Amino acid sequence: MGDTLLDAKPILERFRLYGRVALVTGAGQGIGRAYAHALGEAGAVVAVVDIDNECARVVSAELAAKGVDALPIVADVTKPEQVQQMIGAVVARWGKLTIGVNNAGIGLWTAAETMTKDEWDRVIALNLTGVFLCAQSEGRVMLLAGYGKIIQTASMSGHIVNTPQRQSAYNASKAGVIHLTRTLAAEWADRGVCVNSTSPDYTRTLLVDKLVETPEGREMVPLWVKLTPMGRFREVTDLQGAVVYLASEASDFMTGHDLVIDGGYCVWRPGPSRTNWRCTSDGAPFESLRPKGAPVSVSRFDSPVHLVWAGLVSAGGSWRNANSCPSRTASTNCSKSTCLTM
Ligand SMILES: NC(=O)c1ccc[n+]([C@@H]2O[C@H](COP(=O)([O-])OP(=O)(O)OC[C@H]3O[C@@H](n4cnc5c(N)ncnc54)[C@H](O)[C@@H]3O)[C@@H](O)[C@H]2O)c1
Repeated sequence: MGDTLLDAKPILERFRLYGRVALVTGAGQGIGRAYAHALGEAGAVVAVVDIDNECARVVSAELAAKGVDALPIVADVTKPEQVQQMIGAVVARWGKLTIGVNNAGIGLWTAAETMTKDEWDRVIALNLTGVFLCAQSEGRVMLLAGYGKIIQTASMSGHIVNTPQRQSAYNASKAGVIHLTRTLAAEWADRGVCVNSTSPDYTRTLLVDKLVETPEGREMVPLWVKLTPMGRFREVTDLQGAVVYLASEASDFMTGHDLVIDGGYCVWRPGPSRTNWRCTSDGAPFESLRPKGAPVSVSRFDSPVHLVWAGLVSAGGSWRNANSCPSRTASTNCSKSTCLTM
């Protein structure tokens, strides 16, 4: 017997983006480029927005070669007037905007104590204010139409504090994107506009490819991989399904959500809906990270345990050898051999 609800439209049809108009910022390379390809392949027409004219044109040509109707737009998303022009160009070309992917962002590694205000401002201006300006302008068009999908690129750095690099401005900006997303979602939920975000972990982009050529990167990149339960670097293609889902009617009842795509990275750290305690069966993945010659890891037992390597130990408390961890018996959350909070 048929079911009018279940039989109305097959599920894969609900992922298709025919008739949808998308724009992706920072689409000239990396994650944004992969998002632009994914949305185009799924059926949308795509505005390829970047501050770099050449990149935008090249990606637009790549999409055109796949039969996707694409428009390169040069805009600096930190400038309100350029954001306005970007939206105007999309509406002038296609008459509407249904999908806005606010992805342009930069990273910065600087210790908090030496960071200049200019450095802080540069990161916040693009990663947070730029995202707000785009979402605001996209929202105005979508609210009038009564339908729209906004997808912001946040980061797992909005949930956890990365190690060993120092990036307070970046982490704060991405935490801001996640909460901005929830806030806009709440304001616009009853008017047909969904606002969600994606939180990738370390992604193999040009930046990382260049980084691994430096001495610092040669040490850091393998460490990141070891801290990822899936044990490999993420490729941009690992993110494409998420953006199509969030852009499509398959996710029409989802708003204010941050989709973490991290190979399990945040599972080994405090994150959304996670407790302070982390257990591994034998600690091996972490033991392998201990720098050569560093003392055996120590734990602090008068509060949630920090199992840390030399140089990363937090201040205060009494310190003991991890092997005598009393939490093995004291904590019902930890019955295994090694307890971690990171
Ligand atoms: N690569 C990662 O490991 C990773 C992990 C988590 C989150 N992210 C986030 O994903 C997003 C994309 O990262 P990526 O690695 O692809 O970066 P990328 O540097 O490879 O690409 C960023 C693109 O944004 C463009 N851009 C820079 N400033 C701009 C501006 N003011 N206006 C418009 N465009 C501008 C650049 O020209 C570039 O094409 C960023 O928000 C980043 O924070 C990246």
